[in-house]
Amino acid sequence: MLTATPAARNLVEDSSVSVLLEWLWLLPFAAALYYPWALSWSNQTHLAGAGTWVTVGLLLTAYAVPTIALICVYVTGMQPAISARLVLARRLACLAVATPPAFTLLGVLLYLMKINGHDIAVWTGLWLALTAYFTMYSSTKPVVSFPTSDSVYRRLRVAHGISSLATMLVFLAPHLFNHLFGVFGFDVHRNIMDVLRVVYRNAVLEPIIIVAFFFQILSGLVLIRPKTISRADLFDALQTASGAYLTLFIASHINSVFTLARYFGTETDYKWAVGDPVGLVADAWSIRLVPHYSLAVFFLIVHLACGLRVVLRSHGVRPAAYSVATWGVIMLSALVTAIITAGMLGARI
Ligand code: HEM
Repeated sequence: MLTATPAARNLVEDSSVSVLLEWLWLLPFAAALYYPWALSWSNQTHLAGAGTWVTVGLLLTAYAVPTIALICVYVTGMQPAISARLVLARRLACLAVATPPAFTLLGVLLYLMKINGHDIAVWTGLWLALTAYFTMYSSTKPVVSFPTSDSVYRRLRVAHGISSLATMLVFLAPHLFNHLFGVFGFDVHRNIMDVLRVVYRNAVLEPIIIVAFFFQILSGLVLIRPKTISRADLFDALQTASGAYLTLFIASHINSVFTLARYFGTETDYKWAVGDPVGLVADAWSIRLVPHYSLAVFFLIVHLACGLRVVLRSHGVRPAAYSVATWGVIMLSALVTAIITAGMLGARI
């Protein structure tokens, strides 16, 4: 339950934002209901040989779901004065941005529970239940809090940044670098992974990496609260939305690697990641991994770009310079995502 503070109460009372924006979260929530159907139809048209463009077109409509949610995060954050309902709307839109990893996590959990073939029914039930709950909650004048003092918030933000830099250098940059080589085939990817595994599967380092990821999730969840209460520009929206995505992605991905695969003795190599030999798009379950993985790569680098922008700004760098740097890293992110996704879909050089 959220509790009111004087600052938050003032915001609530000063609010003059329209009812429409306060209920905007219903749009990405409705889109989330469509998400598994987009995947299923894309898979079915592929199997029926309906043509690449139809399959790709339908798959792109799955990407439209987090995109709509991201737009809602941005629009609800642009308002000059905010109300508790608008804050809630922005937070719920952030949740909907994480639709792809949420659907993957659900699929893995149902698989582990041996509940097969009911993913869409459970997914629909959960989103409808959430919609009903937040409709009632939102109607009963929710209140928001700003729970952290400025200094606690600042220190946590620095710790979050340092830890993300460390995980990036020690694990994530090599991990993504490895996936870039998927376009050269399984053997090349495997050879690089064998070298990297010596480092990240080291008995001391591996638990530290996992703890660092849990710290990123928990500190991110604390940091996102004040971030969603103030007015936000496009980069703020990208930072909070990508953070929400990564929170669910990391939880889902670590669960897949360690519980679903390694616990049962499955080799977690590139063949496993791309669903070889069937392929991701041709498999009714695995097609969900296409948006799940590609947006993870994109949002990870975008999240770092937005963090870099905050650091440069607070160190007196000129706006023109930090804007160029931020957009440069975002474009790099799109390129890296395109290459990794192409490799995962079977493109080879
Ligand atoms: C295209 C995107 C990605 C693919 C295909 C992928 C695939 C994989 C695979 C196959 C493994 C097992 C590695 C092994 O057995 O040695 C793994 C491990 C892991 N991945 Fe990813 N990954 C992707 C992106 C990410 C991202 C964006 C993150 C974090 C934000 C991440 C975090 C991790 C972690 C923490 C592990 C466990 C490492 C360990 O063994 O200690 N991955 N991933």
